Amino acid sequence: MQCTKTSFGTSILVILTMVLLMMYYTDHKPTTHLESHTSVPHHRHKTQGNITEDCKIHVESLVRKMMESYGLSEKTRGEGTLNSAKNVSTRGSNTTNIIDKNVRKVVLAYTMYFGQKPWGWMKNTHEFNHWQGVKCPYYNCELTFERRDRPRSDALIFHARDMPFIDTLRYALERKSPTQKWIYFAMESPMNNPLTSRFNSMFNWIMTYRSDSDIFRPYSYYFESKHIPLVQDVKEYMEGKDRLVFWASSRCGLMRDKFVKKLLEYMKVDVFGACKKAVGASNKDKCPKNSERCEKKLKRYKFELALENSYCVDYVTEKYWDALKRGVVPVVLGGANYSKKDIAIPGSFINAMDFKTVKKLAEYLIYLHKNETAYLEYFKWKNKYRIVDYPPWNCILCARLHLDNKPKVYTWLDTIWNANKQCGIHRKELQKMVRPRPRTFE
Ligand SMILES: *[C@@H]1O[C@H](CO)[C@@H](O)[C@H](O)[C@H]1NC(C)=O
Ligand SMILES: *[C@@H]1O[C@H](CO)[C@@H](O)[C@H](O)[C@H]1NC(C)=O
Ligand SMILES: *[C@@H]1O[C@H](CO)[C@@H](O)[C@H](O)[C@H]1NC(C)=O
Ligand SMILES: *[C@@H]1O[C@H](CO)[C@@H](O)[C@H](O)[C@H]1NC(C)=O
Ligand SMILES: *[C@@H]1O[C@H](CO)[C@@H](O)[C@H](O)[C@H]1NC(C)=O
Repeated sequence: MQCTKTSFGTSILVILTMVLLMMYYTDHKPTTHLESHTSVPHHRHKTQGNITEDCKIHVESLVRKMMESYGLSEKTRGEGTLNSAKNVSTRGSNTTNIIDKNVRKVVLAYTMYFGQKPWGWMKNTHEFNHWQGVKCPYYNCELTFERRDRPRSDALIFHARDMPFIDTLRYALERKSPTQKWIYFAMESPMNNPLTSRFNSMFNWIMTYRSDSDIFRPYSYYFESKHIPLVQDVKEYMEGKDRLVFWASSRCGLMRDKFVKKLLEYMKVDVFGACKKAVGASNKDKCPKNSERCEKKLKRYKFELALENSYCVDYVTEKYWDALKRGVVPVVLGGANYSKKDIAIPGSFINAMDFKTVKKLAEYLIYLHKNETAYLEYFKWKNKYRIVDYPPWNCILCARLHLDNKPKVYTWLDTIWNANKQCGIHRKELQKMVRPRPRTFE
């Protein structure tokens, strides 16, 4: 599932790298590797074709598309003619220095990331200029964590959960050059982020899981790929699957508890983590988070409940992706429109909201449990798409810093990032689903 970090070495180097990577993914269990949440140890696949090449093709096509959207033509974008394109101007801007390869834009990670600095998963310039072991195409950036680099930085990234004091922000804002981009970076839904009104008129771009972000940064990422691991027999996906459905959660007291409770009326659901008692699950065994033994156990299930903690636009977290990565079909419940290609892989999930009642959903899961052919259809996407842990947001951001000089500011960030406006989706239907008889709710 992972694009290997090879290239420009001897074959020995390539093999060494692969061995190292394998060790990494089997022995090292990253907890704060990417998000603050869980990260799944990867299962290894027999891969065919050159995956590195595949990632390279993908990220190049993304950046090229972006260049085109800024008015760079086929002629001017070729490697050999990059510098000659210096005098092409961006659409809607009057600057001309568009594509000078030698200009290295500076990106300052201004805040910590969940208390971490440097950010655990993006620590230096080298990492910032690579995606899945592939060098970001065409453009180069420098990543710094030093606040003293603020004046010379082309972009400042502020992680929403680690915001500085408002006075610190205002001080920096007063000294901000008009071309410096301030980026509001959020991974949590507006339900779980501090109020944004005091950040009005401060930020130029937003970088979030929302697909309409200036820099789209979902929790994981997938793309269409030619070099897909070929599976001899789709039944491989069924291997060792002798259990039905589980839910793992560390946070209780949300609407989703009621959903699981309701589902338990119709079928067996194994619950791991803090909410077991709250929903009245009866499984005896435990599954300590991030342990290899637990991960092995979870792979034995056919379905996983991937229930989001809030129901907001496009909000799909690692719960969905982790299920896919461990080869379990996710039963999703959230505010996102999962039919959007940006949001989820077509045919990879079962959406609870597609069912009139929880009972109907339970019946469907039991049907799939009994009908192997029908169940295996949820793995068809694997013939076409590949999942990786991160989107190439760094390459996109770097390219955009070179391309986009359009002035832009989020005057009303509090309407763009607002729990009342973007959350609570499906609330009414969901309430109806989880309690057929009227009863006070929360
Ligand atoms: C895979 O592709 C990369 C990038 O194009 C190349 O550097 C590498 O040598 C290729 N590896 C193999 C095994 O073909
Ligand atoms: C730059 O623009 C001028 C006209 O504005 C054009 O004649 C010239 O060919 C361009 N140079 C390159 C390298 O594209
Ligand atoms: C073009 O840029 C100059 C400064 O470089 C600025 O004064 C001018 O207003 C800009 N023109 C437009 C149309 O944006
Ligand atoms: C969800 O997304 C799909 C695909 O983009 C679209 O056709 C559909 O109208 C959307 N549904 C809603 C409720 O917005
Ligand atoms: C099992 O699923 C397949 C594929 O969806 C379907 O064609 C078949 O009729 C189902 N069999 C039964 C017994 O429901």
